[in-house]
Parts: sequence; C-alpha cells; structure tokens
Amino acid sequence: MTTGKLWDGRFSRANDQVMEEFNASIGFDIRLWEADIEGNLAQADALRQCGILTSEEWSAIVLGLQQVGQELADGSYRPGPDTEDIHMAVERRLIEIVGPVGGKIHTGRSRNDQVALDVRLYLRSRVGTLIELVSQLQTVVLKRAEAEVDAFLPGYTHLQPAQPVRLAHYLLAFFWMLDRDKGRLRDALRRADEMPLGSGALAGTAFPIDRELVARRLGFARPTPNSMDAVSSRDHLTETVSAIAILMTNLSRLAEDWVVWSSPAFGFVELDDAYATGSSMMPQKKNPDSLELIRGKSGRVFGDLMALMTIQKGLAFTYGKDLQEDKEPLFDALETADICLRVLKGVVETAVFSYERMRAAIEPGMYATDLADVLVRRGLPFRDAHRVVGELVAKAIARGCSLVELPWEEFAQASPLFKREDVSALSPAASTDRRNVFGGTGRNAVVQQLTLARASLKE
Ligand code: ARG
Repeated sequence: MTTGKLWDGRFSRANDQVMEEFNASIGFDIRLWEADIEGNLAQADALRQCGILTSEEWSAIVLGLQQVGQELADGSYRPGPDTEDIHMAVERRLIEIVGPVGGKIHTGRSRNDQVALDVRLYLRSRVGTLIELVSQLQTVVLKRAEAEVDAFLPGYTHLQPAQPVRLAHYLLAFFWMLDRDKGRLRDALRRADEMPLGSGALAGTAFPIDRELVARRLGFARPTPNSMDAVSSRDHLTETVSAIAILMTNLSRLAEDWVVWSSPAFGFVELDDAYATGSSMMPQKKNPDSLELIRGKSGRVFGDLMALMTIQKGLAFTYGKDLQEDKEPLFDALETADICLRVLKGVVETAVFSYERMRAAIEPGMYATDLADVLVRRGLPFRDAHRVVGELVAKAIARGCSLVELPWEEFAQASPLFKREDVSALSPAASTDRRNVFGGTGRNAVVQQLTLARASLKE
C-alpha cells in the first residue's frame, strides 16, 4: 500500500492533508457504527448464502465484526480522519483482525448502498426514540390536564384577552398538536422502511444475494425496488426532518406562551428552579431559559431542513459526495428534538400554575360575547346584539369602569331584552359551560376530550 487507503491501486500518492480532513466524515458518521456493524453482519450472511463466503470464512468475518463492534463500543478503537468514514473504518479494522479474508466483505457492495442502509437503520432507531419521547411528553401534558378541569384562564387571540377557557382545554390543545407530530414521524418511518443493500454503486450488485431475505433479516418491510433510486434518494431524510421541524414549531409555541406566562406581568406559571436560570448581575431574576432555548432551537432545525433540501436540489443522479453533507443536519435535527422533548417534559411536569393570577386576568370584557349571545337567545339577530354590547363596552371605557360595573340602567337602555340577572350570572364556569359542543371548553366537553386523549395515547 502506498496511500494507506482501501482504494489503493489506482493512486500513487496520498491525499493532501487538508483534503484528508476535508473529505473525512468519521468525525460525525461515527454515530452510525452500530448500524454499520449490523449491516455488515447482514452482508456477511448474504454472501455466505450465495456461496461467496465459505462457512469458515463467514465465521471468521462474523467474529471479526463482533470484535470491531466491541472495540468501538468500549472506545479501544477510535478511528481518525485517515479512515475517512465509518464504513472504511470498520472494514479496515476487520481486515487487520481477520486478515485478507476480511477483504471479501465488500463483494458486490459499494459505500453508496452501505451508507444508504446505515442511515435507514439509524433513522429507524432514532425516530423511534423521538416518537417515544413525544408520547412521554403527551403523558405529562395529559396528566396535568386531568388535574386542571376546573381551573380557568383567559384565552387569547392576537394576545388580546378573548374568552375564558379551562386550563385543561388549553393543555389538551397542545396534546393534539403532539399527536399529529407523532403521526408525521410514523408516516416518515413507513416510507423509509425499505432495504437498500444490493444496490451496489448504482446499478445493482452482480452477485445473486437474496435481497428479500436481507430485508427481512434487518427488519425492513421490503428491499428498495430500484438501485439508482436507492443510492440517490434522501427524501426520507427530508421528510423526517420536515416532521421534526413541524414538531419544533409546535414546541416553540408552548415555549413562547409559557415565557410570557412566567413573566411577573402575567404570573400564570412559575417554572421549577430545575428549569430556570438566574442572572449573573440582577439578583431578582429568574429566567425561563429552558423555554427560550426550545424556542430558539426550532430555528436551528429549520436550518437543518433547508440544508438538506439545498444539498439535494439539482443534484445529478445518482450519488455525489454532496450527499455526505446530509448527515450533520440529520443528526442535528434528531438530537436537538430529542433534548428539547426531554427538557420540555420536565418543565411541564414541574411548573406551578397560579390559579389566582389566571382567574384575576379574566377581565369582565371577556364576557362580552356571552352578553351578546343572551340577546341572540331572546331573538335579536347576532349582528345587532354585537353592536348593542359593543356600545356598552365603549361606555364602560369612557367611564373608566369594567363592563359589569356599568349601572343597570345602561343595560336596560341598551336593550329591553336584558334582565338584571344576566350580568350577575357571568362567570368563567358559566361562560365555558355554554360551550359544551364537541371540542369546546365546557366541562362535559373537556371531560369527553380527556377520554379521547387517553384512548389515543394507549394506541
Ligand atoms: N461517507 C460517505 C457518505 O457519507 C459514504 C459514501 C461514499 N461513497 C462514495 N462513492 N464516495 O456519503
């Protein structure tokens, strides 16, 4: 060997050192080592099955691969940039251990189908973990919702006080968002559930390996049906990271709400000390850094998605080294979502709600729709009722009082349909319980929703 590379032969000189560093992906694709060993073991089986490996060669290679795996697991083998990537690192070490017979493992295989397989194996396991983490967050959200059916808070649109809602209803909104996130991740996995080994560099392997068998052995639904597609395509990465990006937008919305809620101006929630930080200068501060980081990291995952799409855009079929650049954004998105989900679970689990602050923030103006509805039930067209109550709101503003503090005469004058008790009957419970329509914030509707949520989590 003159170049120290597995491709030595065509080359008479080693890579320039900057090139070697530039070309190497081992620094990040080391994450694929378990997948690579698993893929290699499947390849060894396939080669024995079609007679390329004798049983003795097969056992030597299998033992060798197990040793490489062991060395990678315990850190006694730490491949550096000279091995270029995880595939060459494993093969090189295998040959060191078992001798020239190890050189048979790459028969009919290319790093193109090898990396395609490794990434699909890795994706399956990491996305499986993410789905589990989303379920855990949902479990915590549901548990908190179950305890908050009779707590009320102002619901906002435009961040302007709108109508009172039950805290459980608010929390369940987040539960259903997460449910769809889980669905998107599962969909992405379903479409990625194909086994690329046997595609070779691009044209398919020239050795008659049983791809159906390899697929089954590795737990895939089927082998990829087109070798060019198999080594070129990364849309399963784009799809997964899109689903993760959407998940991050959802997390960032809860984060933003609770950042606002935890400001003393609102005071609806206090984060546990375990998930907040202090200021290096201002002793009074308690900052919701956990939530701010989740909000911020969503931007970084959108960057990952954009990088993935741009890498693939206009890329000539089939493989181009550009595709090596798919890994860091993929890993980053997976790892970012992973930690955000774990942190948010802790935040939600431990946060303390202030029912008094929430209740106090339900200002009487938030019953304006309920008052208009009273008139509608007595026959007035809604548009007229809206104007009648709107004028009462304007009067209250002019007097500097709240809507319910207006003298009864103002109501009587505004519409003969009003009764004295209409105003005294206004309350968060009365307002929300008018909304017992399926999906509404009324008590019965929320209790029904909790049952649905429990059932959906069990699925
Ligand atoms: N490290 C490479 C990657 O991540 C593996 C595939 C290399 N294939 C090749 N034809 N050079 O994409």
